[in-house]
Amino acid sequence: MAKITYIDASGESRTVEAEIGATVMETAIRHDVPGIEAECGGACSCATCHVYVDDAWTETVGGPEPMEEDMLDFAYDVRPNSRLSCQIKVTPALDGLVVTTPERQA
Ligand code: FES
Repeated sequence: MAKITYIDASGESRTVEAEIGATVMETAIRHDVPGIEAECGGACSCATCHVYVDDAWTETVGGPEPMEEDMLDFAYDVRPNSRLSCQIKVTPALDGLVVTTPERQA
């Protein structure tokens, strides 16, 4: 298990237990975390699971693969720390991860 904290655009934060091997998107959906829609179910083809990775975590999480980068073009208010949460797999190294959801999804 790894703890993940989701902060919404208004600053409200929720910390949940994530299963190792699940994605950050799946974890949010499982725990009814608002702000992540995930319309395509994790296929990297909707950009509605967009999150901002906390500055302290960007290096550990790493950057997007080319396919994800292309999809991020469709996300709302993309920033250098933007990722699609369905493409971030939870590992023990991500215990304590903090992500923020954007004001709205694509
Ligand atoms: S759930 Fe569709 S791109 Fe992540």
